[in-house]
Amino acid sequence: MAKTTVPAKKSPVSTRPVKRFFVEMLTRDIALEDAILDLLDNCVDGVQRSLTKKQRQGETPYKGFEAKITFSTSKFVIADNCGGIPWSEHDRAFRMGNPSANRAAMVDGALLVGTYGIGMKRAIFKMGRSAVISTRTDDDAYDVTIPAGWTDEEDNWELAVTDSVTRLKHPGTSITIENLTSASSSRFRSSDFLDALLEKIETHYSVILTKGFSVTVNNREAKPKRIAVKFAEPSANSTSAQTAIRPYMFRSGKEDDVEVFVAVGLREPIPDAETTLDEQEGPTFATDFAGWTVICNDRVVLYCNRDELTGWGTANIPRYHTQFIAISGFVEFKGNAAKLPTTTTKRGLEFSSVLYQQVLNRMRDGTRMFVDYTNWWKQNEAQSKQHVLPLPSKTMNELKTMAESATIKFNPTRTGLEGEIFKPNLPRPVSEAVDIRVAFYRPKKTVMRLAEEVLRDFEDISEKNIPRCLGEHLFDEAHSKISKKVKKP
Ligand SMILES: Nc1ncnc2c1ncn2[C@@H]1O[C@H](COP(=O)(O)OP(=O)(O)O)[C@@H](O)[C@H]1O
Ligand SMILES: [Mg+2]
Repeated sequence: MAKTTVPAKKSPVSTRPVKRFFVEMLTRDIALEDAILDLLDNCVDGVQRSLTKKQRQGETPYKGFEAKITFSTSKFVIADNCGGIPWSEHDRAFRMGNPSANRAAMVDGALLVGTYGIGMKRAIFKMGRSAVISTRTDDDAYDVTIPAGWTDEEDNWELAVTDSVTRLKHPGTSITIENLTSASSSRFRSSDFLDALLEKIETHYSVILTKGFSVTVNNREAKPKRIAVKFAEPSANSTSAQTAIRPYMFRSGKEDDVEVFVAVGLREPIPDAETTLDEQEGPTFATDFAGWTVICNDRVVLYCNRDELTGWGTANIPRYHTQFIAISGFVEFKGNAAKLPTTTTKRGLEFSSVLYQQVLNRMRDGTRMFVDYTNWWKQNEAQSKQHVLPLPSKTMNELKTMAESATIKFNPTRTGLEGEIFKPNLPRPVSEAVDIRVAFYRPKKTVMRLAEEVLRDFEDISEKNIPRCLGEHLFDEAHSKISKKVKKP
């Protein structure tokens, strides 16, 4: 074997990063849709920075701000009016990686998510190999160009800055990406990509869109998916101790770097046995909204989750089952971006975070109450429906506002994560006359023939309801016959 000759005096080794690492490797682990959401996150961070503390707290702080995305097989553009990239931020904006030691400084209560200083560059290289970032602030306007071929120039780590040629009308930023990679170009060509992207924006940005931000993709407007739970308004003479359908709620103290709010309740009446079976055969619309949604600084990181991540099937909580379809919950974390329980892509939940694990215990407490409620009422679901259906629904923001206004009374808790809890006093059925379900199979043809024969309003009954109506009719008839016989001497 040939011996490698080691020079007597060794020169230092280089650790200089290789461009291909950023361009090809960093972009591998992120989905195209998520990379685009990173660009939207920057727009929202921009808005947060340009608002005052008071403006950020309103119901619709993002109103008037927008991002327009357009894509074709050769080009991707995102243009916003979110304040622009101040020249003072250029080092953070254009370097690959955030040079600041204090990764996510809290700008006077701004709900930022930018932390690692990589999102924009990763998104650009995920999609293409050349780009122009054109930006305008209140007192500056400039363009930064990544020319074609730059990603192959190993020794060139600089980008030219020129006076803006785009002349944006309002303070904002426009990013144009070209020389698309063949992978992203073919995704943009695919007919379902637009729907997939809109769906992702409508779920992950539901809070931000509800708070007034506007996003269009190829001229189609993203509409927020609204999740809300039933809340019986306290009337003048009722007390919060009386039984009523209301969510379980928890809020942490305000002193910490991250504030937490948890709410879980019923989104709709609990399902009847037919719906439970139907949903198992082929999930319909209703299932989409069941489960837990986790929000970090207004961004949804988990949407309507129904597995172990949100406590289902762990500790004393059963696994999710369509029987629990009516249960919806939200968890909100708000504060210093570096302390939020999110992964580096900011789109994922950091399950092992100590804070999240503490909050998970609160989430389980709340889920437990509504699992119990479902179990108490599942044989009396029609009656439960009468309680639940007429009630108004409240979104997470509306619940939070109510919690602030002391409409209902929270009690301090000292076990586990400190804060205040509201536990609803949910109604229970008066136990004697419990209905049970009678179910069996018979040939469809026979059922239909019999139903046509004996059901007077056969024509008006939907096909789905015929078996039940027929069963009820025959049962009641048989029952009344037997009752009469028994009464006769
Ligand atoms: N559309 C935009 N509007 C305002 N500022 C932006 C925009 N895009 C990027 N920036 C600025 O560029 C910085 C770098 O963005 P990014 O690479 O996503 O890293 P991070 O968001 O983690 O800091 C952001 O912190 C922000 O200051
Ligand atoms: Mg970012």
